Amino acid sequence: MKPLISPSVLSANFARLQEDIRAAEKGGGERFHLDVMDGHFVPNISFGPMIVRTMKKVTNVPLDAHLMISDPDKYIPEFVDAGAEFVIPHIEASYDVYRSVQLIIELGAKAGIALNPGTPVEWVEPLLDKIDLVLIMSVCPGFGGQKFQPQSLKRIKALRSLLDKANPGVHIAVDGGVKKENIVEISASGADILVAGSAIFEAQDIEKAVRELKRLIDKQ
Ligand code: DX5
Ligand code: ZN
Repeated sequence: MKPLISPSVLSANFARLQEDIRAAEKGGGERFHLDVMDGHFVPNISFGPMIVRTMKKVTNVPLDAHLMISDPDKYIPEFVDAGAEFVIPHIEASYDVYRSVQLIIELGAKAGIALNPGTPVEWVEPLLDKIDLVLIMSVCPGFGGQKFQPQSLKRIKALRSLLDKANPGVHIAVDGGVKKENIVEISASGADILVAGSAIFEAQDIEKAVRELKRLIDKQ
């Protein structure tokens, strides 16, 4: 799959969300990334399923729900019902993550799994016949605008070679600190979905910022 840009709306200006979304879409954003935080799994609170419903009214671009929440099974049905395409719980948040993945699929959405920076990428191995995406956190989750952790490149490469053997169809998304300065290296390491929040929504010109990130990965 050609690498694509997934703007993370956590960094958008919520006083003018529709304009920001339209601008990111016009610039070439091909999926939107919704960072759900419960103040327990991560030290920040953001938004719930309502954001998916709201965004569905504003855009037809697929919406991915990154669930940085404890006890995700309790809320997965609401995110699927609200229209999330990928529902991505953290592997660290479930006592039985296989059950979470099965629930997402049974309800008709696509299952992804997110890994914190300290979690070995090998943990996804038992799930590879079920999931379509692995989200590698390249920052400690909870906030936008953090610095990309360089050791993530090694993790992305290790995961890519693991997937190439076990299930090449599984996508790798990278999330946290993705900027124009590092996006080429991240994409070359094996990432095919590049999540970017502050690099896009804190830019003077949102549309231009997305276009520039796309130009950089498209010339790979
Ligand atoms: C962090 C979130 C990321 C974050 C990305 O917990 O999962 O999606 O919003 O924002 P930037 O690109 O600014 O690091
Ligand atoms: Zn995220």
